[in-house]
Amino acid sequence: MEKTLLLLKPDAVVRGVCGEIIARFEQRGLKPIGIKMLQLSKEQAEIHYAEHQGKVFFEELVQFITSGPLIAMVVCGENAIKLTRMMMGATNPLDAPAGTIRGDYATTMRRNIIHGSDGPTSAAREIKIFFEDHELFGN
Ligand code: RTP
Ligand code: MG
Repeated sequence: MEKTLLLLKPDAVVRGVCGEIIARFEQRGLKPIGIKMLQLSKEQAEIHYAEHQGKVFFEELVQFITSGPLIAMVVCGENAIKLTRMMMGATNPLDAPAGTIRGDYATTMRRNIIHGSDGPTSAAREIKIFFEDHELFGN
């Protein structure tokens, strides 16, 4: 069993589509084991997106992810990381086919609705940023 961190970004909360996105993961067979709403501070956002520090889009990325509340969620399941990334679709929604979350809900790179960890190392690191051990269930 694998765990991964998903963020339903501020655009998902503003548009009121979090429930239906969460439902997609449950329907697929991935189990939410932790879920919370929070607004990231600039410092937390910079830690979460540390790999992108120095890139041209970094400031804009941090500005957007801190612009309002988001929903953080850990899901668990077999091959959860690969499966969630496939369900999300390409980073640029223009390249994400219909049927994927970004392909169905997003139009721009900046407001691309969802984040998912891209590998086991980042999943372990990112889960710790958002959740204490006792906030995760079914371990
Ligand atoms: P995420 O981390 O949000 O799940 O997205 P990802 O792995 O598919 O993409 P990543 O390369 O990690 O980029 C993180 C977020 O930064 C924004 N971005 N903008 N060239 C650009 O303007 C650019 N590249 C990336 C996107 O919002 C992306 O989700
Ligand atoms: Mg990424």
